[in-house]
Amino acid sequence: MDDADLVKRALDARARSYSPYSGFAVGAALRLDDGSVVTGTNVENASYGLTVCAERVAVFTAVASGRTGFAALAVATDRGASMCGACRQVVREFAEDLPVLLADAAGNVTTTSIAALLPGSFGPESLGGEGDAT
Ligand code: THU
Repeated sequence: MDDADLVKRALDARARSYSPYSGFAVGAALRLDDGSVVTGTNVENASYGLTVCAERVAVFTAVASGRTGFAALAVATDRGASMCGACRQVVREFAEDLPVLLADAAGNVTTTSIAALLPGSFGPESLGGEGDAT
């Protein structure tokens, strides 16, 4: 699957967004090292704070299926918006760097990366080793 196909999968996922409160539909498509793709969309709730972003749905779905080797992430919105900070950190847990393709509804893409979006980041290795909380 090439980058154009990954963007298409993000656009397809966006069409399944459940976002009746914000009206802001987001789709995400995560390519794994094994070539498979996991998608996600934002899922809102009448209790607004329970909303989960598209990117986190994709990441958590991949991890829950035992796939943590990430190769690329595409995010689709109407305007090619970037990722929220929470989702940047959740992706970074599994990939210190990763290409990120930001697509608008017409399929125009801006390419960036997790390292560029989250410089000087905190990650698993920052904890200094298993069981070491200092
Ligand atoms: N949203 C995402 O799905 N991903 C982001 O990176 C930013 C925001 C969703 C959450 C909410 O459903 C809507 O967009 C408006 O914030």
